[in-house]
This record gives sequence, structure tokens and C-alpha cells, in this order.
Amino acid sequence: MKIGLSKIKERNPYILFNKWFDLASKKEISDPNAISLSTVNSKGQPNVRIVLMKSFNEDGLTFYTNSNSSKGMEIESNVNIAACFYWKSIERQVRIRGKVRKISGKDSDTYFSSRDRKSKIGAWASLQSKPLKNRKELEKRFNLISKKYKNIDIPRPPHWGGFIIKPVEIEFWHNKPYRLHERVLFKIKKRKWVKSFLYP
Ligand SMILES: Cc1cc2nc3c(=O)[nH]c(=O)nc-3n(C[C@H](O)[C@H](O)[C@H](O)COP(=O)(O)O)c2cc1C
Repeated sequence: MKIGLSKIKERNPYILFNKWFDLASKKEISDPNAISLSTVNSKGQPNVRIVLMKSFNEDGLTFYTNSNSSKGMEIESNVNIAACFYWKSIERQVRIRGKVRKISGKDSDTYFSSRDRKSKIGAWASLQSKPLKNRKELEKRFNLISKKYKNIDIPRPPHWGGFIIKPVEIEFWHNKPYRLHERVLFKIKKRKWVKSFLYP
């Protein structure tokens, strides 16, 4: 499927994102849902790491993490984020700027319950982003939690859950010869998406 950006008719970036993500899901060797997520701390220092987008719709893009982690703390102090997908197999990039917020506890519970048992234990065992003395310490925590919940359902840790990115800008970039790449920017203005083209 070829979608020339210069000819796109979509006024809604989610329709285009859906098409591109569909294509990336077929072509990308692993993790087409991997996003580079950038947050900013209270001193204005940016930080970036990969998270996995687990779902998306017109409300936004959802990922899961530990809210006590560095990213969790950074989001707590500044809800503005930037995010980027890169799909090498289809030579495309999608850049997003927006705001992030926690999803409901109920929705986090639903996703947590779908995870395998050992990942659930891992979510309890990891004090994500905190200093770790050695690997043994983590394994010990994992084993203790396994014992604690032996033969019973593992509840979602209160500090673990979903976050939703609500974009205010989405840019689609498509590699073209001679660096004449195509770029289309969708920006929210007065609650409507406005489309424009950018020089590469
Ligand atoms: C392919 C890949 C997927 C990842 N997915 C997640 C994820 O969905 N959630 C998460 O918290 N960390 C994920 N990580 C780990 C993060 O990149 C990061 O190491 C961790 O969240 C701690 O980041 P922080 O200290 O900035 O909070 C993933 C890493 C990779 C390489």
C-alpha cells in the first residue's frame, strides 16, 4: 500500500496514523508499537526512553508504567510530553506532542489482569528507576512476592498503571529520494485538526 503524503485527503490524523500503524505492524520485525517518549523534569531537563503503546484511539495513545519511576515523577511535575515512532521497514516517522494523564484505576486493572503471572510479579518486584545494589536484590524481591501471592490472584500495584497521551500535534514524515522527504503536520486549533505541509 502506498500513501503519498502530498496527496492525502485525511483531515483526521488518527485515520492516517491507523493506516501507517497497520502497515508498520505487518512490516516491522519487532515492536512496531515502540515509542520514544520524552518527558521534562521540574528543572526543565528532558529525558527520553522507549515505552510500548498498548492501544490507541481518538482519545489518545496508552502505555503502562510505574508512576514512581523517573518518567512517572516527571509527568507528575509536567504533563507535556513529546513522542516519536520510527518504522525503519517502511521509512516513516510519526512525531507527537501533547499532554499525558493517568487512565482510570479500573482500566489499569483490566490491562494488568491480562498480563502473565510473572510479569505481574515483576511489576511488584521492580522499584523502577531506583538504585539497585545488585541483581540478587531484585531476584530476592521477585521470589518473596511470588511466595506472598502463591495460589492467589495478584492485584495491580497501586503505583503501576496506564497513561494516555493526548496529542495536540502529530507530524507524519515519509522518506523520499534526495532528502526531499514528505512532512505533514496536523495541529489542534480551536478543537479542530488543521493540516499543513513542512519543508523536509
Ligand atoms: C522495547 C522496549 C519497550 C519498553 N516498554 C516499556 C513500557 O511499556 N513501560 C515501561 O515502563 N518501560 C518500558 N521499557 C523500559 C523503559 O525504556 C525504561 O528503561 C524504564 O521505563 C525506566 O524509565 P525511566 O527511568 O525514565 O522512568 C521498554 C524498553 C524497551 C527497550
